[in-house]
Amino acid sequence: MNPFKKRTGVLPSYFTGRSDELKELRRIYYSTKNGDAGHIILYGPKGIGKTCLLFKFQEEMEGLEDTYSVRIPLVEGSFFDIYSLIVDSSAESLGIKVSSVWDTIKGIGINIPFAGGFTVSREIPPTSPSVAIRKILETIYHKLKGENPVLILLFDDLQRIIMNEDTQRVLSILQSALVELNLKEFKIMFVATGSFDIFSKIQDHTDSAIRTFDPYELKPLSLAEVRDAINIPSSKEGIIFDEDVLERIYSVCEGNPYYLQVIAHNCFEEATNGRVTTIEFEKSFPNALNFLAQREFRHMYEKSPIQERKLLAIFAESNSDVLAYTEIKGNKNVKSEPSKVLRNMTRKNLIVKESRGKYKLRDKMFKEYLRTDKPYEINGTLLN
Ligand SMILES: Nc1ncnc2c1ncn2[C@@H]1O[C@H](COP(=O)(O)OP(=O)(O)OP(=O)(O)O)[C@@H](O)[C@H]1O
Ligand SMILES: [Mg+2]
Repeated sequence: MNPFKKRTGVLPSYFTGRSDELKELRRIYYSTKNGDAGHIILYGPKGIGKTCLLFKFQEEMEGLEDTYSVRIPLVEGSFFDIYSLIVDSSAESLGIKVSSVWDTIKGIGINIPFAGGFTVSREIPPTSPSVAIRKILETIYHKLKGENPVLILLFDDLQRIIMNEDTQRVLSILQSALVELNLKEFKIMFVATGSFDIFSKIQDHTDSAIRTFDPYELKPLSLAEVRDAINIPSSKEGIIFDEDVLERIYSVCEGNPYYLQVIAHNCFEEATNGRVTTIEFEKSFPNALNFLAQREFRHMYEKSPIQERKLLAIFAESNSDVLAYTEIKGNKNVKSEPSKVLRNMTRKNLIVKESRGKYKLRDKMFKEYLRTDKPYEINGTLLN
């Protein structure tokens, strides 16, 4: 059986590393339990392991006395959807009836506005979002068993609910609800995951949200962690990856666990006589790349406007990974001032800014895709 996963959002057969992250989450948990609540937002690029870290932490918290954790996968939509998402997920994982939560809320005279303008009551004016969230959480908290229970809220993909609103507003609504609850000595801990840019969007406004939500960036896995993630589960299946293959995988996936899983999955399929050598790696790598192209990269390229595609071509075809602004501007295919295009591409995470005026493609796998598929070439000539 192939032990490697080909998609995000599923626990791997062997969970590697993340001990600092889990330690930090545990620290916040104990602090919350002791009356000083903490909140954290884990952020990073696609596939870095945000969802799995939530799974793992939730697993660790299972069975602890008077501790309840609820994972709330957020879906794209209006901010008001967050109310029913919280109630539905909590009811399911805590064994509470959805209707009993809403009945209690109605009973205390709170009128929650839902998406589409629908509210629970016509007589009472609609409650403000932060009060609504606070009342919902209070209601759920009161239904927990135990003396001073700890409620851990795990919000996966916070950026989805933020999509059409401004980040600042959503975070400050959550912030004021949580601060208020914690003042009243409710032991509620908030853990959210968010896309790589969740904080960069607000930093220029005010840092008030950052005081409540600890930003924690999920970093790539180390070589040793990649080695374990591959050889531990695969040796259980009787397959050993050669050390030079592990190093090649580490180098090309750059410690991104999603890429790691996809590449290892394809290598595993090619294993011969219980081994994966560089021969099998070379043979299977195009399949891994093609899989990621279909799932991720092609779409990223195709939804980019023409000026961005041109710059992607320049980055891909260049012999160096990092390009200086002056080199880009001086390229014969660049006809207008590229600052704005570069800024947009950075914002979309197509490229990353290495340092002042220096840019590179988001990652090596994306670069491999561009260089292999050459979507910017039509009949062998560069698009212009
Ligand atoms: N610590 C880990 N060890 C081994 N594999 C991991 C680890 N963390 C994540 N993975 C694997 O990497 C893939 C991506 O992980 P995950 O879904 O958690 O990423 P994500 O950051 O939530 O991605 P997305 O941005 O799509 O939501 C999954 O298939 C998972 O099995
Ligand atoms: Mg995820």
